[in-house]
Amino acid sequence: MSAATLLLVHGAGGSHLTWRRQFDKLSDKFRIIAIDLPGHGRSEGGGEVTVPAYCRHVLDLMESLDLRNVVLGGHSMGGAIALEIALMGSSRVGALLLVGTGARLRVLPAIFSIIREDFVVAIEGVGNFMFGSGASGDLINEEKQLLAKNSGDIMLKDFTACDSFDAKDRVGSISLPTLIVCGKEDRLTPSKYSEFLHEKIAGSEAVFFDECGHMPMLEQSDKFNNCVSSFLLKL
Ligand code: COA
Repeated sequence: MSAATLLLVHGAGGSHLTWRRQFDKLSDKFRIIAIDLPGHGRSEGGGEVTVPAYCRHVLDLMESLDLRNVVLGGHSMGGAIALEIALMGSSRVGALLLVGTGARLRVLPAIFSIIREDFVVAIEGVGNFMFGSGASGDLINEEKQLLAKNSGDIMLKDFTACDSFDAKDRVGSISLPTLIVCGKEDRLTPSKYSEFLHEKIAGSEAVFFDECGHMPMLEQSDKFNNCVSSFLLKL
């Protein structure tokens, strides 16, 4: 049997590098593809302002690479994209990995105003807000530097896309095998969002990491990789 393909979608202001601690550890057993959404990382373009518009780019990639039975993984806004694609009924998706995300992703008005006022201050604030008590200063600084590589305009667009996303009434119809991972100290997508997904998506598995914030794939990468690996091997 061929190795599972894991297609990973980053969140607001992120890039494929969100998954940098997964490439080495998971690629010996699985095929890992991490997209840069338009305007992020190495992808050109101006970004999008809705989750369905971002979905189109992920669907195009799956089609152009003719990916089948994909495990579609998404973090935060990327999780909203994965949920929406599952709800569209894409026949290319065989399972979901939902990391620090939710069925509704309303954004604090203060996040919009600070990005508009001073992007450098916004990076500092959002960067700190993203991590839990177990994260090292080095990791937090590394992530702030990566966030700063995208423009304020792209970040505003991403948060606009998150803010209008609401699939709370629809996610109950998802029946794909699903793994949900969330930090117990996540302040951007509180763990109750993941509990809600777990409750609504029949047969889903959920794991909640102690001393972990919004970035479990970076904050506790070994534990995260083990959970994902066990899930993929069971499919
Ligand atoms: N899953 C389950 N429940 C959810 C949910 C989700 N994804 N999103 C919201 N809810 C619940 C809330 O808990 C709340 O329930 P309650 O009335 O029992 O407390 C209700 O739905 C309404 O919440 P919300 O839609 O978020 O509106 P709000 O006006 O109460 O709060 C914010 C708005 C922005 C303050 C709040 O969403 C928040 O703190 N968000 C997290 C911080 C942030 O900006 N994150 C960025 C996400 S990308």
